[in-house]
Amino acid sequence: MLLRDAIRETAAVLASAGIEDARLEAEWLCETALGLKRPQLALQAGRTLAPTEAERIHAWGARRAAGEPLQYVLGETDFYGLTFKVGPGVLIPRPETEKLVELALEALAKFPLSPGLLATRNTQHETFASATVLDLCTGSGCVALAIAAQLATRSTQQETVVCAVDLSPDALRYARENQTALGIPGVRFFEGDLYAPLPAGLRFAVITANPPYIAPPLYDALPHEVKGHEPELALRADEDGLAVFRRIVEGARERLLPGGWLFCELSSEHADPARAILSRHGFTEIGFLPDSFGKPRFAVGRAPAA
Ligand SMILES: C[S@@+](CC[C@H](N)C(=O)[O-])C[C@H]1O[C@@H](n2cnc3c(N)ncnc32)[C@H](O)[C@@H]1O
Repeated sequence: MLLRDAIRETAAVLASAGIEDARLEAEWLCETALGLKRPQLALQAGRTLAPTEAERIHAWGARRAAGEPLQYVLGETDFYGLTFKVGPGVLIPRPETEKLVELALEALAKFPLSPGLLATRNTQHETFASATVLDLCTGSGCVALAIAAQLATRSTQQETVVCAVDLSPDALRYARENQTALGIPGVRFFEGDLYAPLPAGLRFAVITANPPYIAPPLYDALPHEVKGHEPELALRADEDGLAVFRRIVEGARERLLPGGWLFCELSSEHADPARAILSRHGFTEIGFLPDSFGKPRFAVGRAPAA
């Protein structure tokens, strides 16, 4: 079979399964299945596929047509300019979450403590002397690794700069694989419930989190492509979707340095209750910022200065 025929046949299979961008997705599937880059796909359109190549494309097309998310079939997705391995057991990073990385980097750039002072504050933790960011609910590690990659370009330090936590061992397996594949040493991953697995007394300049925040009735109404494949633990949260956020805020003051920032992804309907929760816990400079598509999404609060 020629590559161009495989693309056409895959597109037809996807279109008959009701997939909107069938041709584009077929090209993506073929490109990744053959390890090609986009211009090579066009250049090699007339090449005959090896039987194993044709079989892989056929199998991937069938999985996608059955409703599996494209990124799970491809086994990867892009986030903040980096490629992350994903698959069953871990949430697929979404483009709107990239703003969380930017918010953290902007806050760090303005943070009143120099890296030296920060190190002094955390001296009791020799291995974490320069830990500056905590990423809760890290999933694939996308936010933590993207922040660490950016910080690495600004410093020659090879120490841990980001601590990252997730309750799911499956998610952490992807996070650690991503760390190795991307070659970003500055992140230390912990398995457990929010702050529980962190060394006592360790404090951060910035806490980021993209927790589960979909309220049960909305979760039940999610499309099968999401609900039937991505982990419930990553998506669904009780109490109008704010159960995990509440616990993040409750524990944040104890884990932030004076003047440190908390940034948490939520949904636009959470704006008012999220502000109220932050205010109740003594945060200042409270806000609810839009993502890069203009949708209100990020609860922000600052711990009072000492
Ligand atoms: C919405 S996903 C976010 C994943 C990743 N940060 C991202 O933006 O793609 C939420 C993550 O929180 C984790 N999680 C849920 N409850 C948790 C808890 N109590 N403590 C730590 N992690 C939790 C889930 O396993 C999941 O990986």
